Amino acid sequence: MITVISGTNRKNSECLRFATLYYEMLRESTEEDVKLLALEHIPHDWFFPEMYKQQAPSLKRLQDEYILPAQKFVFVMPEYNGGFPGALKLFIDACTVRKYTSNFQGKKAALVGIATGRAGNLRGMEHLTGVLNYLGTIVMPNKLPISRISDLKNGEGEVIDEGTLEAMRAQALEFVRF
Ligand SMILES: Cc1cc2nc3c(=O)[nH]c(=O)nc-3n(C[C@H](O)[C@H](O)[C@H](O)COP(=O)(O)O)c2cc1C
Repeated sequence: MITVISGTNRKNSECLRFATLYYEMLRESTEEDVKLLALEHIPHDWFFPEMYKQQAPSLKRLQDEYILPAQKFVFVMPEYNGGFPGALKLFIDACTVRKYTSNFQGKKAALVGIATGRAGNLRGMEHLTGVLNYLGTIVMPNKLPISRISDLKNGEGEVIDEGTLEAMRAQALEFVRF
């Protein structure tokens, strides 16, 4: 099973638009089960000082459905202040409190960075690579920075830039084989 994680809790994020596209591309490329987890759609009642000892039932349910059964993850994440969103790190930290080694250890990940600026979240992807490697996750070397996203969409906000769509499809296919 592959879980695509849209890595911000900002409502109506651009990130989720790209994550949804990626999810659809994966579904077309593999018979494997593929799921989409959008941090902007999950409950937020698991963020409290005791979260490091006592996991909220809402988070346990998410972990049981999207994290523990997955063998592969695609992290699609926007660039916030030159890095990946704190909400994503918080979610990762919260998951690791329970069944530490069954969350990310020995699993595989692909990374996609989203930014309005020029860098395509390269720094955020490098930082997340370090975090995931620490947790024992193998990160696919081919990471995909998507920059200047305002130039890639039509008036309705759909991603129409063929080069970007092709790069996403190619990475998705590579990840299926990874
Ligand atoms: C708190 C915050 C910080 C941001 N920092 C950066 C940044 O450092 N570099 C950049 O290119 N874009 C930055 N952006 C713009 C996002 O990359 C842009 O909003 C893009 O649409 C993806 O974010 P979204 O998924 O929240 O829509 C930032 C946006 C927010 C909300």
